[in-house]
Amino acid sequence: MALRRKLIVGNWKMNGNLAALAELAPIAEAARAAAGVDVAVCPPFTLIAPAVARANGIAIGAQDVHAAASGAHTGCVSAAMLKEVHAQLVIVGHSERRAEQQESDAAVCAKAQAALAEGFQTIVCVGESAAEREAGRAVEVVSGQLAGSLPEEAHEGELVVAYEPIWAIGTGKVAIPADVAEMHAAIRAALVQRFGERGTRIRILYGGSVKADNAAELMRVPDVDGALVGGASLTAAQFVPIVEAAHG
Ligand code: PGA
Repeated sequence: MALRRKLIVGNWKMNGNLAALAELAPIAEAARAAAGVDVAVCPPFTLIAPAVARANGIAIGAQDVHAAASGAHTGCVSAAMLKEVHAQLVIVGHSERRAEQQESDAAVCAKAQAALAEGFQTIVCVGESAAEREAGRAVEVVSGQLAGSLPEEAHEGELVVAYEPIWAIGTGKVAIPADVAEMHAAIRAALVQRFGERGTRIRILYGGSVKADNAAELMRVPDVDGALVGGASLTAAQFVPIVEAAHG
């Protein structure tokens, strides 16, 4: 058996409605057929409970969480609240939140800690900008984000890292396999250095314009343990072939 099962996660961002949950049935069917692949969908907060009711075996997750357990944090949602509606996974530190909500590495780390402590599969996102890559600083930037965003202790939940170059998100520009391989190897080395043997078991996802036609090639890159998929996760027609590509 492979050391790490593939994990394919759909991030609906601020898209979808109750009617869109009809997409979950064919996705769940494909997930059942793709034995050995874990499949999850992260819709907006308002759709988590109804999505769980229609999940049929796929995991449902959230796109963010607050670091605190409760309190005066208008507009925010805690890990315990997500657990109560049976979400299983939480994404933290997506580049859109780092940019739009000015989330720092320390803030992302606190959120990850809160999610892991509640037992969530917790996806911590990292990734460089186009300017940083052009300046030859991609690995250095991502290493810094990892150092600042990953919580120290081992918790109940499963830590997952998603490498998403910012310039590849929603642009149709996908990183070339050689660059993905270089970055995932660097992330793996950093995880092993920091966590020892546990670092070999942490899944590393690639994200950024993953589509049906590039998924298979990306999934073959060493240390690519799955994908975080935005646009192509909104319909089963586009998402199912990505699940199938991970199945191989
Ligand atoms: P994309 O988004 O697949 O639409 O590029 C990926 C992400 O932001 O997680």
